[in-house]
Amino acid sequence: MLKSFLAMAACALALAVVSVQAASQRPILIKFSHVVADNTPKGQGALLFKQLVEERLAGKVRVEVYANSSLYGDADELEALRKNEVQLLAPSLAKFGQYTQQLQVFDLPFLFDDLDAVNRFQKRAKGRQLLRSMEAHDIVGLAYWHNGMKQLSASKALLLPTDAAGLNFRIQPSEVLDAQFRQLGAQSQAMPFAEVFEALQSGRVQGAENPWSNIYSKNLHRVQPYITETNHGVLDYMLVSNPRFWYAIPHTIRVELEGIVDEVTYAVNRQAEADNRADRQRIEASGSSQVIGLSAEQREAWRNAMRPVWRQFEAQIGADVLKAAQAVNRKSRP
Ligand code: SIN
Repeated sequence: MLKSFLAMAACALALAVVSVQAASQRPILIKFSHVVADNTPKGQGALLFKQLVEERLAGKVRVEVYANSSLYGDADELEALRKNEVQLLAPSLAKFGQYTQQLQVFDLPFLFDDLDAVNRFQKRAKGRQLLRSMEAHDIVGLAYWHNGMKQLSASKALLLPTDAAGLNFRIQPSEVLDAQFRQLGAQSQAMPFAEVFEALQSGRVQGAENPWSNIYSKNLHRVQPYITETNHGVLDYMLVSNPRFWYAIPHTIRVELEGIVDEVTYAVNRQAEADNRADRQRIEASGSSQVIGLSAEQREAWRNAMRPVWRQFEAQIGADVLKAAQAVNRKSRP
């Protein structure tokens, strides 16, 4: 009796060992979902990540990239990550409002003078701390990825801040962005990125704010006759995973993956400004949208009109975070 029990137990143990081994020999699958086109900084970053993983971790890790909201969209991708149905995302920083209010600092209009200033903030202690600000919600930030500074597009020419009054602008789901347009006497409507082209084409909204690469890759310039080069805010991303998934990856493999993340981050961030510059030129060359430049005085008028929003959100964001962000600007102001 005891003998047969021991034999059965040994058999069960052997089966368990085999199935654990079989499972561990199966490559770890990382599904990377995002909402933009392949020919954008984020789209290129996702493809480079897949390429490097396949070169260096063949047989151990497999990456599937889903672009253009083809697997999950803005409305459900973060929930899917928290349930470990997808393992990597890079949502724009405006899309984490449900999980932390501190990241709203990136949405404040005219806070950062340019992408270099954003970069400095992201590298300093406060910026790095924000990568861990959502772990209690099963979201861990692995890196910041740049896209670029946002421009205002509309159905009419926007030269003065008062020109925006009465228009309805598409926004990402961010209270700061809503407040920014209210400050101009305009309205806003939050909607997923996948709906923006149709909403502008049909006139459901009359304006939007996007970096050049998102405008060009989604053909938004074909349905927006005017684009004002405001550079009023930043559209950057946080590359995120589920900490329960990420920290369960065997140590040596995770170290290799983190090295790849660093390498891809460097490539994306070095390329993003060049991509946006090239897409700006393509939009101008297309002739379908007039690009409006602002003089220093005109830009200052936009800045003054939008700036009260900083005070409104200072308590939510944290005075320390706001101060650290302000400290990275180097240009002197009139
Ligand atoms: C993105 O670049 O991921 C989309 C940003 C947006 O929703 O405007």
